[in-house]
Amino acid sequence: MTRPHPRILPYGTAAIAEAAALIRDGGIVAVPTETVYGLAADATNAEAVARIYAAKGRPSFNPLIVHVADLAAAERIAVFDADARALAAAFWPGPLTLVLPVRGDSGIASLVTAGLATIAVRVPRHRAMQGLIAASGKPLAAPSANASGGISPTTAAHVAGSLGGNVPLILDDGATEAGLESTIVAGRTVLRPGPVTGEFITKHLPGEGRGPIGTSDVTGHSGHHDRPPIGPRPSPGRSGGAVTAPGQLESHYAPSKLLRLNATEAHSGEWLIGFGDVAGDITLSASGNLVEAAAKLFDLLHAADANESRKIAVAPIPLDGIGEAINDRLRRAAHR
Ligand code: TXA
Ligand code: MG
Repeated sequence: MTRPHPRILPYGTAAIAEAAALIRDGGIVAVPTETVYGLAADATNAEAVARIYAAKGRPSFNPLIVHVADLAAAERIAVFDADARALAAAFWPGPLTLVLPVRGDSGIASLVTAGLATIAVRVPRHRAMQGLIAASGKPLAAPSANASGGISPTTAAHVAGSLGGNVPLILDDGATEAGLESTIVAGRTVLRPGPVTGEFITKHLPGEGRGPIGTSDVTGHSGHHDRPPIGPRPSPGRSGGAVTAPGQLESHYAPSKLLRLNATEAHSGEWLIGFGDVAGDITLSASGNLVEAAAKLFDLLHAADANESRKIAVAPIPLDGIGEAINDRLRRAAHR
C-alpha cells in the first residue's frame, strides 16, 4: 500500500545521518543534486535498486546513473580512457555523466546497468548528495525522483507530489540549481544534452585534430557543422534528427539463446527460470516476491546464457507493480 505522506527533513547533519541509515538498510531516499532531485539507493544492493523501480512505477528497466564521491571512486567501478579523464577533470564535481565500460569487479548490481557492459557514472556537486554518499559509504544509484512518465522534480514538494508515500524520506535542500538533468556523454557522443554543453565538452577533450564531440543538443543542432561526429551513433534513439532520451535507446541485454516466456515446465534442452509456484532450475523468487525477482533478473539471465543448456524458459511473472517492468525486459530479451 502506498503511504500518503513521505517525511520531509531539511538538510542538516541529523537528516543526512538518518537518510544514510535508510540507505545502508537497503531503503530509498529522495535527495537533491545540482540538477534535479534523485531517488537514491545503494547501487551494490540489487533489492534496494529494485525498490527504486518499484517506487517510480517504471514499466521497464532503464539503466541508472551511479553517483560517487570523486574520480577515484568512479575509477573503482568504470574503466576510464584519456577522454573520460579529461572530462572528469574539467567538469567533476558537476552535472556531467559519463557512460564507460563497467569494471568486472565493480560490485554494482546488474539491475543498475540493466545487464549492459557499460555504466553511467557521475560525481555530483550538491552538498546533500555528496553528504549522503559520504555518510552511507555507498555508491548511489539514482534516477530522477518522479513517478514514471512524470517530469523531473526540482523541489522536495515536486517529489512528494509525484511519489507520495512511495518514498519514505525526502531530504529537502531547496530548489535545485540546474533544474535539468545532467549531460550524458558516451565516447565522444552526447547521448543526452544538459547543463554542460557540447561546445564546452569539445573544448576540454584532449588531442588536437581529433574532431569535435558528436553533439546533439535539445534543438538537434550540433555546435560544429563542419566535421562529422566521432564515436558511436545512438541511431535507434534518434527521431527527427535529435537524440531522444537515452532511456529510449534500444540497447538492452539480450541472451544469445532462445528464450521462451510464460513457461510452467521445462521442455527438452531448456533451463527453466522459476517464479513462485514454478520452481524451475533456479528461481527469481520462490515466495513470488516481485522486488526480489527484479533484483535477480539480469543475473539469472546471464547465468542461463552462460550454462550448458541450449535454451532458456522463464515462468510467468504477474504484471502488477514492478512486474510490468520485469515482463517488459523479458519480452525484449525474448524478441528475435
Ligand atoms: O541529473 C541527473 O542525471 C539525474 C540526477 C538525479 O543525477 N539523474 C537522472 O537519471 O536523470 P535518470 O534515470 O532519470 O536518467 C538516466 C539516463 C537514462 O535515460 C538512461 O537510459 C541513461 O541515463 N543511461 C544510464 N546508463 C546508461 C548506459 N550504460 N548507456 C546509455 N545510457 C545510459
Ligand atoms: Mg528521469
